[in-house]
Amino acid sequence: MLFLHPIKALSFNIIYLIILILMELKTLEEIDIQLAPTSKINEVDFDNLTFGTTFTDHMLVCDFADGEWKKPVIQPYAPMTIDPSAKVFHYGQAIFEGMKAYKDANDAVWLFRPDQNFERFNKSAVRMAMPEVPKEVFLGGLKRLLEIEKDWVKKGLGNSLYIRPFMIATGPGVIAAPAKFYRFMIILSPAKAYYSGEVKVLIAEQYSRAANGGIGAAKAAGNYAAQFYPTQLANEQGFQQVIWTDDATHTKLEEAGTMNVFIRINDTLFTAPTSERILDGVTRKSVIELAKRENIAVEERSVLVTELVEAAKNGNLKEIFGAGTAAVINPIAGFSYKGDYFELPKVSDSFATDIKTKLTNIQNKLAEDTFGWTVKI
Ligand code: COI
Repeated sequence: MLFLHPIKALSFNIIYLIILILMELKTLEEIDIQLAPTSKINEVDFDNLTFGTTFTDHMLVCDFADGEWKKPVIQPYAPMTIDPSAKVFHYGQAIFEGMKAYKDANDAVWLFRPDQNFERFNKSAVRMAMPEVPKEVFLGGLKRLLEIEKDWVKKGLGNSLYIRPFMIATGPGVIAAPAKFYRFMIILSPAKAYYSGEVKVLIAEQYSRAANGGIGAAKAAGNYAAQFYPTQLANEQGFQQVIWTDDATHTKLEEAGTMNVFIRINDTLFTAPTSERILDGVTRKSVIELAKRENIAVEERSVLVTELVEAAKNGNLKEIFGAGTAAVINPIAGFSYKGDYFELPKVSDSFATDIKTKLTNIQNKLAEDTFGWTVKI
């Protein structure tokens, strides 16, 4: 044990106090808050929300210039001016995250595993040659923004405030090289379900979402844009999503773009292992941990399309579901492969339903969070 002379102990305490005061001042100085004169919250029909179309009154903006992050600003949500030659428009230097805030019965606001999103965001930043965002800006800024917008987080299962942190290259010049200027932002959108109804999927035979050595594991904007065209083709045939297969052989099932995919064959859950091609989903890893706690066998391995078709034919395929922040857990009603459509059975002991209930109860503070996943704002 360390014993200090009383004078030394006193000066130690004074220094500690000064450090605390400086930290407090620093926090106050580090965020500029400009409040909107009026709120549009009373114009919003919270019972009829279309995902990602309504935004709260404020947004967080933080610019990167001269090799450093500047003071973040919380300001009224509004369009902004960006140079037409900014690299984001020409070379797609853009990344994002998806998170959600929930309100408990006592009106406290909670985040779900926010550190995971923060870490993944900076991994995406590194992969896209963008500057990493400091934790104080990402998580500290989000906390301040949520404190201001807490009335937009509605209580009750199925309600949440979707959080969209993102970063774009604002630096001008059409030279194909990383920008020198960036903007990190957080916008918030009250949300209910992502998909309105059952999801039928098409198994990819020609197009790919990601390739080894590419950016599939990053939450890069371009990963999503690249899916739009093949997904449009699938939509025209009556399918809401595509389940991507590996780019080299199109024989292994991967992810569904807005969701990681879980396949239940008999009583085992399979999901593709994370790799350079698969997003390390926060909901994905939570589903795995919850399933293991329920003694459900989980295997992180690629399922072959032939295995899936075989299991569907012989009755061993019980469920397919997607897992993601926006979609939460979404059962898949059926899939199509090489022109054949396979309808999934309606099982009475659905893993998707059970895991979704357990997960959303934790997120909404309706069940004890033994994992320590929820963080109070
Ligand atoms: C999310 O689940 O947050 C996502 O990033 C999917 C998005 C494309 C809505």
